[in-house]
Amino acid sequence: MSETRTDRPPPGIGRERQFEVYVGGARGAYPRVPVSYELLERNARKAMSPEGFAYVAGGAGAEETIRENRAAFERWRIVPRMLRDVSRRETSVEVLGTPFSSPFALCPIGVLEMAHRGSDVAVARAAAAEGIPMIFSNQASRPMEETARAMGDAPRWFQIYWSTHDELVESLVSRSEACGCSAIVLTLDTTMLGWRIRDLDLAYLPFLRGKGIAQYTSDPVFIDALQETLREAPPPAGRITLAAIGTLWDLAGAFPGSRLTNLRSGLARAAVQRFVQTYSRPSLSWDDLAFLRERTRLPILLKGILHPEDARAAVEHGMDGIVVSNHGGRQVDGAVGTMDVLPGIVEAVGGRAPVLLDSGVRSGADVFRALALGASAVGLGRPYVWGLAAGGEDGVREVIRNLRGDFDLTMGLAGCATIADIGRDSVQHA
Ligand SMILES: Cc1cc2nc3c(=O)[nH]c(=O)nc-3n(C[C@H](O)[C@H](O)[C@H](O)COP(=O)(O)O)c2cc1C
Repeated sequence: MSETRTDRPPPGIGRERQFEVYVGGARGAYPRVPVSYELLERNARKAMSPEGFAYVAGGAGAEETIRENRAAFERWRIVPRMLRDVSRRETSVEVLGTPFSSPFALCPIGVLEMAHRGSDVAVARAAAAEGIPMIFSNQASRPMEETARAMGDAPRWFQIYWSTHDELVESLVSRSEACGCSAIVLTLDTTMLGWRIRDLDLAYLPFLRGKGIAQYTSDPVFIDALQETLREAPPPAGRITLAAIGTLWDLAGAFPGSRLTNLRSGLARAAVQRFVQTYSRPSLSWDDLAFLRERTRLPILLKGILHPEDARAAVEHGMDGIVVSNHGGRQVDGAVGTMDVLPGIVEAVGGRAPVLLDSGVRSGADVFRALALGASAVGLGRPYVWGLAAGGEDGVREVIRNLRGDFDLTMGLAGCATIADIGRDSVQHA
């Protein structure tokens, strides 16, 4: 049926966003955060400390995996179809009962305070306004309760790292349930930190400065355990340098309460020490998953899966979803790009659980290509952190709107009016 004045389809988020920008330009207003990824990263860099920028931008080793993620996307080519009435496009999806206005969520990203002081709360507000689920990081800069409060009943998941302290795992899970999170994402690829050359050269790890440990310092189990660390903690050894005093001052500020009290009590230093002792468990194995399965009714997704056999094992161990991820190239240098392994993983899972993908998603075409290969949705990582650095909450919102718009137009121009129209024959391997 042809379009008439009385039956005008809504423009959709893509055309809305284009017109927002172009009409703004005609009035002399330009996008506050650049639309191009390269310019956006450059603007963010200007707003961040060298250490903060290196921490976000960097990857493991020679950063081959970061480049490989992009190369793997670029090896898939979209094959647009014509004359298919794409005047109304439906971009929303539901994954494990959680609604997504467009098929992407915000990846869990730790230490957002290095991008902007609004950190997790600013991101949460932007995500909620756009109907895009936010995955709270285990290494957040703000306690999950505070972040959750900023989003009303908008969708959110919680990402957990399995520490050496099972009671802490239980406590984090039950707090996330109370915060309205509708799924748990267990990240498996960071049982140890990757060999990150940029951070090593700057001798900088944010957690040791008390940054990105807010989920711990707000946790009753962690606080109880601190007393033990305080009893055992030896006084700091070595020469007191100006830098050491600065670090202690930062630490004291990162912990709830007044800086002076925290300095005197040793609590802040003990919190970091305790965090270092407990944050990761390299011994984790498949049998441990039963512990988590028994402690929550929420769906559990395993993040960091790159092999079809691991995906199959995840489903067999009662897991509800998979996130194909190499942590944005931050863990194993020389690893496979996620888009190269997605088809094999989708086949191994065989429709028994949704498969999501992250690492290298930069455009609407990337979202489209991942969905064409069988992903239910994707995760957006570094781009929203650059938006946060460049423009706070508004910056994140613009980055989200741009990706939503870009995806909507790509989908329509490829001849797909619904997500179900995007299929394996929408792409070919270059
Ligand atoms: C600065 C930074 C911090 C991150 N922190 C976490 C985290 O706390 N938990 C987690 O599961 N993944 C974390 N990730 C990985 C992201 O969730 C995601 O897998 C990755 O950013 C995807 O790659 P991309 O940003 O290049 O697209 C982090 C990534 C970055 C860049």
